[in-house]
Amino acid sequence: MAIKVGINGYGTIGKRVADAVAMQKDMKLVGVTAHSYSFNTEAAKQKGYKIFAVSDESENELKANGIKPDGNFQNLLDEVDVIVDAAPRKIGKENIGAFYKPNKIKAIVQGGEKHETTGVSFVAQCNYDKAVNKDFVRVVSCNTTGLCRTLDAVNKKYGITSVHATMIRRGADPWDIYHGPINAIVPVLEMPSHHGPDVQSVLHDVEIFTTALSVPSTLMHLHSVIADIKKKPNVDDVIEMFRSTTRVRVVRNAEHLRSTAEIMEFARDMGRLRGDMPEICVWQEAVGLTSNAHNKLLYMQAVHQESDVIPENIDCIRAMMGFKDGLKSIKMTNETFGIK
Ligand SMILES: NC(=O)c1ccc[n+]([C@@H]2O[C@H](COP(=O)([O-])OP(=O)(O)OC[C@H]3O[C@@H](n4cnc5c(N)ncnc54)[C@H](OP(=O)(O)O)[C@@H]3O)[C@@H](O)[C@H]2O)c1
Repeated sequence: MAIKVGINGYGTIGKRVADAVAMQKDMKLVGVTAHSYSFNTEAAKQKGYKIFAVSDESENELKANGIKPDGNFQNLLDEVDVIVDAAPRKIGKENIGAFYKPNKIKAIVQGGEKHETTGVSFVAQCNYDKAVNKDFVRVVSCNTTGLCRTLDAVNKKYGITSVHATMIRRGADPWDIYHGPINAIVPVLEMPSHHGPDVQSVLHDVEIFTTALSVPSTLMHLHSVIADIKKKPNVDDVIEMFRSTTRVRVVRNAEHLRSTAEIMEFARDMGRLRGDMPEICVWQEAVGLTSNAHNKLLYMQAVHQESDVIPENIDCIRAMMGFKDGLKSIKMTNETFGIK
């Protein structure tokens, strides 16, 4: 029987997870919530998704704009096995206490919530098993997902002693007219940035120190990573390792993929839904090694903040519903996204 899924918070992440759920043969999208009326609600209606109002105010706003909701939040909860909560940060945590636990419904929260909210933080290829049969799981943030995917591969093959990574973060999502910076480079004045401890919520034994800054761009984050490793690698082997790692794509100067702008254009040209690039893109030419006594591996990667966590949400749903074969789930999910 198909897993019945509801989406709460139909924004950047929620609308993508909704489409991804609708594409899975073993899942049924019961519906999505609306907090306010917007173009997102109009798009959901056009797609034929059932729309549930999160409050009386939401219901009135929808009705005033010509949308008759299919029910309220409780009606959605009555019909689902699992909710993917992609509302703004802190709401997922509140909803676990107020709605999901009392209704005995499993729930996934997103990277805006803290690890302690669920006690399990998830990146499918790193720790799928940890989410099997769990009631509440957090899919980590876009940056943490990106770091975990490549560092897990490096750790398994070469053994990591320690990592220093700098996150150059997009100032806002492309649709977002409220955030910035618009003409500044803004360092995160916190040492380490929260990303390092967040990676350790998935890769417990990896020592990592992170710094971060925001720049005036909406097109992906860029990570510059330096990993001290135990075994001496050669560059070709490292590139081959990334090439064979699921949800990681090696991109090259030779194909004119020299920037986040060109990677996003490539995703659009490939016909990806919304022009998304859920794979972490590692630049082939930016993989390097130091030649001194220490084995230092350096690489740069681009992270599409709006989409890399979407396959993770799908695998997480399966794991929580008791599907034990992580590799099979990843393969099933990848096929629907057209990724390896
Ligand atoms: N965007 C990213 O790059 C990204 C990447 C990875 C993870 N995340 C995480 O994903 C979560 C969602 O982020 P997002 O970027 O998708 O946010 P978003 O684009 O702002 O979408 C949030 C949606 O939730 C709705 N909402 C607001 N209050 C609500 C409530 N009380 N109940 C139900 N829905 C409510 C919003 O409606 P209104 O428009 O009416 O407010 C909006 O449709 C956060 O934890 C975030 O940290 C974000």
